[in-house]
Amino acid sequence: MNQVRFNHLLGLEGLSQEAITEILDSAEVFLEVLKRPIPSVPSLRGVTVANLFFEPSTRTKISFELAEKRVSADVANFAASGSSMTKGETMLDTARNIEAMKVDVVVIRHFAQGAPHFLAERINASVINAGDGSHEHPTQGLLDLLTLRHQVGQLDGLKVLILGDIAHSRVARSDIWGLKTMGAEVKLCGPATLIPRDVDLMGVDVTFDIVEGLSWCDVVIVLRLQMERQREGLIPSMREYLRTFGLTRLRLEQAGGEKIIMHPGPMNRGVEIDSDVADGPGSVILRQVTHGVAVRMAVLYLISGGERGIE
Ligand code: CP
Repeated sequence: MNQVRFNHLLGLEGLSQEAITEILDSAEVFLEVLKRPIPSVPSLRGVTVANLFFEPSTRTKISFELAEKRVSADVANFAASGSSMTKGETMLDTARNIEAMKVDVVVIRHFAQGAPHFLAERINASVINAGDGSHEHPTQGLLDLLTLRHQVGQLDGLKVLILGDIAHSRVARSDIWGLKTMGAEVKLCGPATLIPRDVDLMGVDVTFDIVEGLSWCDVVIVLRLQMERQREGLIPSMREYLRTFGLTRLRLEQAGGEKIIMHPGPMNRGVEIDSDVADGPGSVILRQVTHGVAVRMAVLYLISGGERGIE
């Protein structure tokens, strides 16, 4: 395998098409591994991974842990609540102490933007960003790319609408960088208050008309309305949001029918997406979750040098 070398995975911004393609190609091999009666390989035997989660997670946390076990790594889990951080220990001291226990790879989710970058500059272990504030969520971006590549064959020229609370979304940023690097066209749609100010720098178009956006695209990535990150008054009400920007069956029909429907989860059903769309024929939402394990196996494998092969 022609391997691109990387010590950390902090974001998709700046990651080359060659590197992304290598991760996706490796993930395809791991998807096949996951279909075996015994879905594991010894590729990372002797490698120790610590999962540091400073923010809640269901999908990413379980997916990383499963991926680590499926490649035979040793796994240590850390949650900020219940740790010595409640006694005042800093994140850096926590990470240094964990590293002193001979950890090779640190997976970190943190509410502060740049926390993984801060760690990567200060510890010797490889760092994988599992979501930092509203900044990036690179493995989510990669699993979205893998899911789309499976659905449509190639990403070049694909038209992708990202719909909803883009300003607070790390998934939107990773998706934008990843999709654009792979040649897809990206358009954003949401209330003006939830579109980031630096949108021009990202090289994407914006529409405030959901039917126009849906008529244009092949794929819709619906984002959760992140009430916990919002200042007061960015939207009038949940009911108003569903009426204006919620993805409903009626809206899809107005825009000409079925699209590929994606959502990173967790979903607010009846707010940004209706259940008959989330569970409908175009939805690949649960496939995204399945692909997440393979993508994370691939990232762990490549970050650890990929020297032992996958068999
Ligand atoms: N997609 C995602 O990051 O979900 P979790 O917050 O449950 O990990």
